Amino acid sequence: MKNIVLIGFMGSGKTTVGRELALFMGYDFYDSDHVLEDTVKASIPEIFKEQGEQYFRSKEEEVIARLSEKNNCVIATGGGAVLNPVNTEHLQHNGLIIYLNADWKHVYDNVKDQSHRPLLQTENPKSTLMTLLDSRQKTYEDASDVMIDVTGKSIMDIVKEIRCRLSDMDLQC
Ligand code: S3P
Repeated sequence: MKNIVLIGFMGSGKTTVGRELALFMGYDFYDSDHVLEDTVKASIPEIFKEQGEQYFRSKEEEVIARLSEKNNCVIATGGGAVLNPVNTEHLQHNGLIIYLNADWKHVYDNVKDQSHRPLLQTENPKSTLMTLLDSRQKTYEDASDVMIDVTGKSIMDIVKEIRCRLSDMDLQC
């Protein structure tokens, strides 16, 4: 079976949804950021601070390539993963890509009290978030096979909706 790959902006629920979905499906679960942190043995804020974003992106490409070799997995990706066409190609090759589409308010509510996302550590995180989200929207849409609107929905409702969509496609539910 192909992998199920979750893409979307920071704070859209990819990790939490992915973990629950994997449980229901009896699949292994991987979060590309967590795999990267384990590989580099540093946290994402440390990697950005000490080696820079470019280094992070090169490690992210290695991790995505490795995870794309697997089968029967749910993979939650970092919010910037599909900005790199090489990652998108790897993920599409062996996976069904599901875009968790959230509006800026939903995302902002989820991330505003967290400090582990270097790209949002700016003077005005709300405005940074809105600009980034807007600039990435089309890339997420283009990379995905299925789009789920997650705004205002609970994790379990999102999981249920994904399972129904998979069942409609004659994939496991
Ligand atoms: C990033 C999203 C983060 C993490 C890194 C960069 C991005 O992952 O990969 O901070 O470019 O959107 P989450 O989407 O899990 O927060």
